[in-house]
Amino acid sequence: MSTPFHDPRSVTIQNLESAFAGESMAHIKYRYFAKLCRAAGDAATAQVFEDTAEQELLHAFGHADLLFPAAQVTPAVALQLAIDGETYEYTEMYPSFRHAAVAEGRADAVAEIDEQIAESKEHAAQFQAVLEKAAKRFAALAKVEERHANHYKATLAKIAA
Ligand SMILES: [Fe+2]
Ligand SMILES: [Fe+2]
Repeated sequence: MSTPFHDPRSVTIQNLESAFAGESMAHIKYRYFAKLCRAAGDAATAQVFEDTAEQELLHAFGHADLLFPAAQVTPAVALQLAIDGETYEYTEMYPSFRHAAVAEGRADAVAEIDEQIAESKEHAAQFQAVLEKAAKRFAALAKVEERHANHYKATLAKIAA
């Protein structure tokens, strides 16, 4: 999914998105390998994967800093981006993957995808609830600000009179 803060035609932005995906994947993959190594009784190798995974996380954050500028990504924007991503997963991405898995007779993948669809839906709903709560909080704050502004205006009018 492309980030909405840049020209999607920019080669550098496309490269940063690919690099962000790659480093993110390396982070998860090394954590997963560490889990396998630990289960196989090789704690030393697991430790190397865990340490490297932490560095890959920092590499991914470096790309994320450029792709999701802090000045633009307010909590409300972050929530909306998350809702959009989760919604894309359960309405478009996973349904089409499911279709292909059924066609290839991969019942294991179908079952796994069904779980992911349910979880993405749940995540989207949770983020939506947080966003709505935040919107109410902003509306309440705006009312307080308006009261203050009116109070100042009235005071100013009195002084000017
Ligand atoms: Fe890296
Ligand atoms: Fe999710």
